[in-house]
Amino acid sequence: MTTRTFVMCKPDAVERGLVGEIVARIERKGLRLVAAELRTVGRGLAEEHYAEHRDKPFFGELVTFLTRSPVFATVVEGPDENTWELCRILIGKTKVTDAQPGSIRGDFATTTSENLVHGSDGPESAARELALWFPGLA
Ligand code: RTP
Ligand code: MG
Repeated sequence: MTTRTFVMCKPDAVERGLVGEIVARIERKGLRLVAAELRTVGRGLAEEHYAEHRDKPFFGELVTFLTRSPVFATVVEGPDENTWELCRILIGKTKVTDAQPGSIRGDFATTTSENLVHGSDGPESAARELALWFPGLA
């Protein structure tokens, strides 16, 4: 059964011209984009998107970063129930020094705060984020 997940090229990725590289890696893997949009994010959407981190010390910095310049928001589909997990593997670990070469973060990121890509971290977060970012998608 196909499943979908939410993947977003963050402002640093758009600023650095890495959107094509990131989308190419997703497509080469065998996953496909079913929706995508370059979007300017307001504080409300950024805060809702990262609601799970509301009480973390880095929350303010995270919201400011996400609203700095446009993001490239995408819906990615794969043939099985593990689309979110395949995307997380392509993206790489959160902590910059844990992100392995071969992953997007491992190859292109030098800080944990500006780590280029967001991917939903499970089926429930994928469903929540898809409804938040692409409410009209069938
Ligand atoms: P994302 O949600 O953006 O895909 O990142 P993630 O799942 O790998 O990491 P998450 O724990 O959800 O954290 C969201 C973003 O917050 C920043 N962060 N900073 N200073 C810190 O310890 C710290 N921890 C997380 C990162 O930019 C991370 O992507
Ligand atoms: Mg996360």
